[in-house]
Amino acid sequence: MNSEKRAWWKEAVVYQIYPRSFADSNGDGIGDLNGITAHLDYLKTLGVDVIWVSPVYASPNDDNGYDISDYQAIMPEFGTMEDFDRMLDGIHARGMKLVMDLVANHSSDEHAWFVESRKSKDNPYRDYYIWKDAKDGREPNNWGSCFSGSAWQYDEATDQYYLHLFSRKQPDLNWANPKVRDEIFNMMSWWCDKGIDGFRMDVIGMIGKENFNDGPMTPGALYGDFGPSCMHTETTHRYLREMRQRVLDKYDLITIGEAGGGTADAIRYSNLDGSELNMTFGFEHTDGINAHTETGKWCDYGAPLAEVREVMNRWQTDLQGKAWGTVYMSNHDQPRQVSRFGNDSPLWRARSAKMLGTLLHMMHGTPFVYQGEELGMTNIYFERIDQYKDVEVINAWRQWVDSGLVDGQDMLRWFAKISRDNARTPMQWNRDVNAGFTTGTPWIDVNLNYLAVNAEDEMADTDSVFNYYRKLIALRHQHDIIVYGSFEPLLENDPSVYAYQRVLDGQKLIVLCNWTDHTAPCSLSAAETGDELISNYSTHQEGQLQPYEARVFLATGK
Ligand code: GLC
Ligand code: CA
Repeated sequence: MNSEKRAWWKEAVVYQIYPRSFADSNGDGIGDLNGITAHLDYLKTLGVDVIWVSPVYASPNDDNGYDISDYQAIMPEFGTMEDFDRMLDGIHARGMKLVMDLVANHSSDEHAWFVESRKSKDNPYRDYYIWKDAKDGREPNNWGSCFSGSAWQYDEATDQYYLHLFSRKQPDLNWANPKVRDEIFNMMSWWCDKGIDGFRMDVIGMIGKENFNDGPMTPGALYGDFGPSCMHTETTHRYLREMRQRVLDKYDLITIGEAGGGTADAIRYSNLDGSELNMTFGFEHTDGINAHTETGKWCDYGAPLAEVREVMNRWQTDLQGKAWGTVYMSNHDQPRQVSRFGNDSPLWRARSAKMLGTLLHMMHGTPFVYQGEELGMTNIYFERIDQYKDVEVINAWRQWVDSGLVDGQDMLRWFAKISRDNARTPMQWNRDVNAGFTTGTPWIDVNLNYLAVNAEDEMADTDSVFNYYRKLIALRHQHDIIVYGSFEPLLENDPSVYAYQRVLDGQKLIVLCNWTDHTAPCSLSAAETGDELISNYSTHQEGQLQPYEARVFLATGK
């Protein structure tokens, strides 16, 4: 029997748009809301149910909109509130839903609250942010920011430091102040009353700062880890339960936490009693598998099957019956999944992109497709530092290369593999100039492989990655087992094949994926496994899987 309670957000497939890079409607080189509205039919054809749009609010764009200066205004570069309303209507008219990005751990330093806050110690907005005195003539503690350097910025006007866990233009809001929570909750209700359908909550696991003690230092690191004081604290859970009662429970929303942590944290955030969020993103299979060095994410790394499978299987099985999850390998903070986990050479790009899509879309949890993933878009492999736009990259270059601690060529090699700008190059629409993204000069370079990888050609090609994703998404809508079946790992020690099964009401769904560029023996054969639902090859070989081959079987047990 199906023990999992049904919910529309469990059956949905979410598509993430990074608006700056999706589609430019007015030739200024920057994607915008009217560009999104113009491509809603494309998303409907793909078959996704929910669209999550990265921040579109007023922002000085230190971190491309993740630094908000007005939560109830649209960034002029992206359009107007009327454009927003038309986009929302267009989404709803096509039976889709809209998720907004809620970036409330921090605001921009240009938000009116911060402008006031920094004026004087007795300003009514002072306690909207986290201010501390110097300690022994320096920063209040040893915390490092996620974007390099100290997490504290000295402000001369009042001779105190403010906390910024991200860039210095992203001061952390003080959630301990009830007025801040009132402001955020009222703002959320305002968007819900406007008719949006949910929130993706940016770094929501960091809102509850429990203390300001020095953090542990990993050997070789320059700063201490704020994690034990700020991440996944009891205080954060308390704020989320308050948010649930004061806002979320009044609407029928999808709520997704960018919270990370281990599976025990995920189970608390997205527990089945519904007291906090619907689901969270885990990072162990993305950021986690290469965070092994003093330079953090900047290092040589691979994506060994054994490691990825161990992490993903553990998340699938730990959450089972306890919490709902998400499945993804791509977003605006990750390199392109086919470049990282698959093989982006012309020979294997499409094949391995489909294999990864199969692996993800047959799993338990809500799948997230990041713009261009459905085309098999690849990393851009910038060669020079001046090609990068991302504040994370620029700060990391300053911290490690300008200071002489790391060789520039090494750093460029690591950036090319893992930097976020890989995911932020413009969406490849067609073979026109700039891949059809803009008639002007794009804000970031277009990947030159757009002649081979673009939406128009792929829509017309029945064998494309796009049409394969369409089928994957349709299958989830057709078969309850893909949404609600239990997850069981198979062949857990196989050196080449990632395999698992889903089970529901006497049905069995078997998923076989060859993670490698060579033919791999596979003991599970068609005869024992049932009818084939989808595969990225049209002919098969008994007892083995071809390079990057993926096969899915449904056995009805009759
Ligand atoms: C989240 C966002 C990322 C942003 C950061 C700070 O991790 O996904 O893009 O830089 O939070 O807001
Ligand atoms: Ca534009």
